[in-house]
Amino acid sequence: MDLKNKVAIITGASSGIGEATAYELDAAGMSLVITARNKEKLQQLTSKLTNATFVASEVTDLDLPKSLLEAALNSFGRVDALVNNAGVMVVGTVETIDIEEICQMVRINVEAAFRLAYFFAKHFKQQNNGFIINLSSISGTTNYPTMAAYCGTKHAIESFTDCLRLELAGSGVGVGCIEPGKVATNLYQTWTDDQKQMVAIEQPLVAFDIARGIRFILEQPSNVNIGRLLITPAHQSA
Ligand SMILES: NC(=O)c1ccc[n+]([C@@H]2O[C@H](COP(=O)([O-])OP(=O)(O)OC[C@H]3O[C@@H](n4cnc5c(N)ncnc54)[C@H](OP(=O)(O)O)[C@@H]3O)[C@@H](O)[C@H]2O)c1
Repeated sequence: MDLKNKVAIITGASSGIGEATAYELDAAGMSLVITARNKEKLQQLTSKLTNATFVASEVTDLDLPKSLLEAALNSFGRVDALVNNAGVMVVGTVETIDIEEICQMVRINVEAAFRLAYFFAKHFKQQNNGFIINLSSISGTTNYPTMAAYCGTKHAIESFTDCLRLELAGSGVGVGCIEPGKVATNLYQTWTDDQKQMVAIEQPLVAFDIARGIRFILEQPSNVNIGRLLITPAHQSA
C-alpha cells in the first residue's frame, strides 16, 4: 500500500522495535497511534512524530483494542494497519522459572496479541482493506533449551498468523509476521549475565533493521502478502 496519509497502530512503541517502527512509518508518511505502559516515553515519542497520538495502557487490558480504534478514528478518521509488537521474554531452567511470570508472558505475547489481531481483523474486513503484522521471532521457528515458554508463545504467533492469513485471503486484509533474530533492545534487560551469555552474538541487529522490514511488508502492492519475514544478524548461526 502507499503509506502516505495512512494510519497505523503500534503496540509496545515505548522502546526497541516498536519505537523504531514508529519513526520508520512516520518517515513513510503514516499517522500513528502508539501504545505501551510508559506514558512519559510515549509523550516524548509522540512529540517527535509528525502526526501521532498515544494511549498509555497495559496491553492485556480488555478495553485496549476498542480504545486504540477510537483514538485512530477520532484523531485521523481511519486505520489501515496494526503492528502487534508488545512482548516480553522470560527464560530459565525448570528449577528457576517463575510460573506466574511465565503465565503473564503468555497473556502479553499471546492472549493480548490474539485479542488485538481479531478485533482489527474484523474492522479491516468490514472496510475491505488493512494489514496486521505480528511480532514473532526466530524462536517461533526454532527451539532452544531454557526458552520453552517463550518459544511456545512465538510458535503460537506463527500458527495464528498463518491461519488468519489463509482465512482472510482475498478479503483485502493482509496478515504476516516478522521473525527477528537477536536485536539489541531492552528485551534482555532483566536477564542474568549467564542468560545474556547464552544469546551473545557479534553485531546483533538494531531495532531499525526490523522496522525497515515492517515498512517493506506494508509497502507491498495489494496483490502481495508477505506472510513471514525472517531477519537475522549476519553472524547468527543458531
Ligand atoms: N529483541 C530481540 O532480540 C527480539 C527478537 C525476536 C522477537 N522480538 C520481539 O519483538 C517485540 C518487541 O521487543 P523489543 O525487542 O523491542 O523489546 P523492548 O525494547 O523491551 O520493547 C518491548 C515493548 O513492549 C512493551 N510492553 C511490554 N510489556 C507490556 C505490557 N504488559 N503492556 C504493554 N506494553 C508492554 C514495552 O513498553 P512498556 O514497558 O512501556 O509497557 C515496550 O514498548 C517483542 O514481541 C519481542 O518478543 C524481539
